[in-house]
Amino acid sequence: MSGKKPLATESPDDSSPVIETDRLRLRMFTSDDLDSFAAMLADPDVMRYVEDGQPKDRSVAEKALNSMIAHWQRHRFGRWAVEEKTSGTLIGFGGLRSLSGIPEVVYHFAKAHWGKGYATELARASLSFGFDKHRFGRIVAIAKPDNAASIHVMEKLGMHFEMRTSYYGIEVVQYAIGPAEFDAHR
Ligand SMILES: CC(C)(COP(=O)(O)OP(=O)(O)OC[C@H]1O[C@@H](n2cnc3c(N)ncnc32)[C@H](O)[C@@H]1OP(=O)(O)O)[C@@H](O)C(=O)NCCC(=O)NCCS
Repeated sequence: MSGKKPLATESPDDSSPVIETDRLRLRMFTSDDLDSFAAMLADPDVMRYVEDGQPKDRSVAEKALNSMIAHWQRHRFGRWAVEEKTSGTLIGFGGLRSLSGIPEVVYHFAKAHWGKGYATELARASLSFGFDKHRFGRIVAIAKPDNAASIHVMEKLGMHFEMRTSYYGIEVVQYAIGPAEFDAHR
């Protein structure tokens, strides 16, 4: 896989990198992405296990997009817009975000692109970024207990189950990984 590759083409201030994996380009969101992003959030299947499980309208998507951009400015890590390199199309989003102060790896793809290993590829690049660039000691992932595909991604990454817990009133399973464990799975 692409885990050992250096992080590619970074912007001059190093705060909002563009990363290329074998098949994906991870880049900053821009306002031009709103249509594709809103389409993902409007799809009930994509949103089934996310937050309250309900699809979101365009105004919510616009707020979420702006919030992801602001997160990068505040924390120097965040979620990327994910393009498929062959088509140049925006097919998903994800990366790292702050979950009550703990870095969390997240991934979401348009339904047409499920089952191709893209979430695992994105998450692996995100963990590399978190451990290599930010030197995080631990990164978590959470999912609703019946989101089997998401939990399977965590397991493929080498993350270990920590606990069942809840955030913002939503019951989840929490997995985690540290740099040494990640190194063993690169
Ligand atoms: C969860 C999600 C990101 C997975 O994306 P993906 O690109 O299909 O993931 P990958 O292909 O890298 O890996 C998925 C793995 O789960 C497996 N899987 C898929 N559906 C499954 C299911 N119902 N039960 C068990 N395993 C399942 C796949 O076979 C694959 O494993 P494999 O590589 O061993 O065959 C995608 O389904 C998605 O975007 N869902 C909507 C958003 C979401 O729920 N995000 C996570 C929030 S916690």
